[in-house]
Amino acid sequence: MMSSSSDSSRWETRVLPVHAEDIKFGPKDEIPTIDSQTETYKNLNEAVNILKTAAGPVAFPTETVYGLGASALSTNAVRQIFAAKNRPSDNPLIVHVSSLNQLERVLHTKVPKIYDPLIEKFWPGPLTIILPLPEDTQKDGSPILSPACTPGQSTFGVRMPSNVISRSLIALSDLPLAAPSANASTKPSPTRAEHVYEDMNGRIPIILDGGSTDCSVGLESTVVDGTVTPPAVLRPGGVTIEAIRSAGGDLWKDVITGKSEAGKNEAVRTPGMKYRHYSPRARVITFIGDGNGCNGAITEFLTRVEPGIVIGLLQSKYFDHTLWDDSLQSKLNFCENLGTTGPEISHNIFSALRNFDKRNVDVILVEGVDESDEGAAIMNRLRKASSEIFENGKHIKKTDH
Ligand code: TXA
Ligand code: MG
Repeated sequence: MMSSSSDSSRWETRVLPVHAEDIKFGPKDEIPTIDSQTETYKNLNEAVNILKTAAGPVAFPTETVYGLGASALSTNAVRQIFAAKNRPSDNPLIVHVSSLNQLERVLHTKVPKIYDPLIEKFWPGPLTIILPLPEDTQKDGSPILSPACTPGQSTFGVRMPSNVISRSLIALSDLPLAAPSANASTKPSPTRAEHVYEDMNGRIPIILDGGSTDCSVGLESTVVDGTVTPPAVLRPGGVTIEAIRSAGGDLWKDVITGKSEAGKNEAVRTPGMKYRHYSPRARVITFIGDGNGCNGAITEFLTRVEPGIVIGLLQSKYFDHTLWDDSLQSKLNFCENLGTTGPEISHNIFSALRNFDKRNVDVILVEGVDESDEGAAIMNRLRKASSEIFENGKHIKKTDH
């Protein structure tokens, strides 16, 4: 068994294909139907065996990003996740279930009424809800949910993924899976199996590869806390705050949004906020403000940039480098379009940051987006990934990058 991060580089990591189209799993079903002749069935069951014997964490696709899962009931299994990712041990993990029945039966948890309208609308899907820890214990008095999932917390986060590969893995193993994103800590979250391989090769036994149709959302789940008054969004994500207000009715009309940054010593509601996050090797600089304001700051930046620095540009709605002076265009080594809509940009952003790292870009210049709808989650990730931000003429330099 793996005991520390120092011996975690011992696996011959295998990438096993699984195909969502081989799986039938309706939102209200308890278990999937999968033809036993398919490689999907064989590979899923191989992963199930690893999970059941706590032989190492398994990477798998979800509709948000790839997760790195292990049994949330086993402290040994959960510790293997922290070791493989090199994750700070006080950052809690989200528990993934395949059905409400499993949440009740295995984790002895009944969901409070406040969540009913959100579960009805968004589960299975990219919404994590915060719940009080189960009161029941195992026969020997130990907690049902491993305390390693919830360091220092009196609550736990749970979600039911809509991706049928991840939901099948949870249902077939009948284990709630603790699963953070399957990147190495501080790196951008993975949205393709090859991203997981880049970070986790040698550190985990298998990666289930869902092909290019997975991770349709591209950013992590929204984390909401309905155990407090007023209820709060702790992390913006795949379900927009506007959608929560609209589906949540009176219970969620006063929902507040947490702040996206927290100091190292500050007590925080969402512990992961205080860590460096989502950062490629290259320096990321984000430009916020629309139209001319934004364009002005980037052209000024390019005018001053030293020769020899490899620059990649990620543009979306307002930047159009083809309209810039030749002298500025000549400073851009690479340019990619993130798309113009919230869902497109969410889907592309993590992958785009990783692509530029592969091309040895030194500085990534990103066009920011308006913070409504999907923009809230996109800008939450970009603010954390950036070492510098130009916001409507204001220049913010971060110290932790
Ligand atoms: O979409 C997702 O949620 C992905 C996929 C794999 O499902 N998972 C994910 O996990 O993003 P991770 O570990 O990267 O993010 C977990 C974050 C923590 O950093 C924290 O912000 C919040 O979820 N969280 C988890 N448990 C919490 C708790 N009890 N109280 C407050 N925040 C919690
Ligand atoms: Mg993460």
